[in-house]
Amino acid sequence: MAIGVFDSGVGGLSVHRTLVERFPKADFIYLADQANTPYGGRPGEEIVDLTRAGCERLFGLGCSLVVLACNTASGIALRRLQQTWLPGYRRELGRPVNVLGIIVPTIEAATGLPWEHEAERRGDKVEKLDILAVFSTPATAASRVYEIEIDKRRQDVAVFSQPCPNLAAMIEQDATRESLAADIAGHVQAIATRIGRLPDRAILGCTHYEIVSDLFRDALTPGTPLIHQPRATADALVRYLERHMEFDPGAGGTRRFLTTGRAGAQSGLVEAFWGSALSFEPA
Ligand code: DGL
Repeated sequence: MAIGVFDSGVGGLSVHRTLVERFPKADFIYLADQANTPYGGRPGEEIVDLTRAGCERLFGLGCSLVVLACNTASGIALRRLQQTWLPGYRRELGRPVNVLGIIVPTIEAATGLPWEHEAERRGDKVEKLDILAVFSTPATAASRVYEIEIDKRRQDVAVFSQPCPNLAAMIEQDATRESLAADIAGHVQAIATRIGRLPDRAILGCTHYEIVSDLFRDALTPGTPLIHQPRATADALVRYLERHMEFDPGAGGTRRFLTTGRAGAQSGLVEAFWGSALSFEPA
């Protein structure tokens, strides 16, 4: 068995890299749905259907767990798939399988609280408001998942989301660092205008953005903490696998990288992030 890692494209590699560091002996299969990337401007139903198709493919290749290394899929599709598709699919397959997202671990890391914790609404005066910016795809921003879930847990944290409509596609298309820096600076400026100042902390709420996290750091106030979504996801997976021995992550240390799009070498931008050459096989 293996752990599947799914994204619309190359963004999930940022999560994959940290998962592999944490589980060096496990077998991993990465699937990029590059035939359909980007997901972030698509209607919800399409995101659900594409995410289900990706998970089915990974389970069909022998994965026991699939990590949705994509905020858009985690925020829009995960609950629906867990409620309406997975129970019947498990019966059909006759073995335990599950799909995990990355938003819950990220919110746990951002709030410093376990997911089960919901704050008592006591109406206490908040002494100092912590302003947290979330940069994401339009679909994730429209879902307001970060605002809603963080607000349930921390009244002293105010979340501002900034949709970045073209950024994931620019990263997929190997845009120049200059054009990426200009796009990111525009989004940071836009959110600063809405807040009235720059944020205290930020979440790169689209896994593609981690590939250019240095450009976000350059555009934000120096030293602004960025919640590290890949680390939060890896920590959560460690805890999950300790509680759920029924999911076999494999022990061969194999790595496969598949794409529904154009197979072959990945872009210079991706390889610079990855630290070595990287080639995808056809899915
Ligand atoms: N990497 C993705 C995310 O975290 C999706 C980007 C896209 O396909 O628009 O949301």
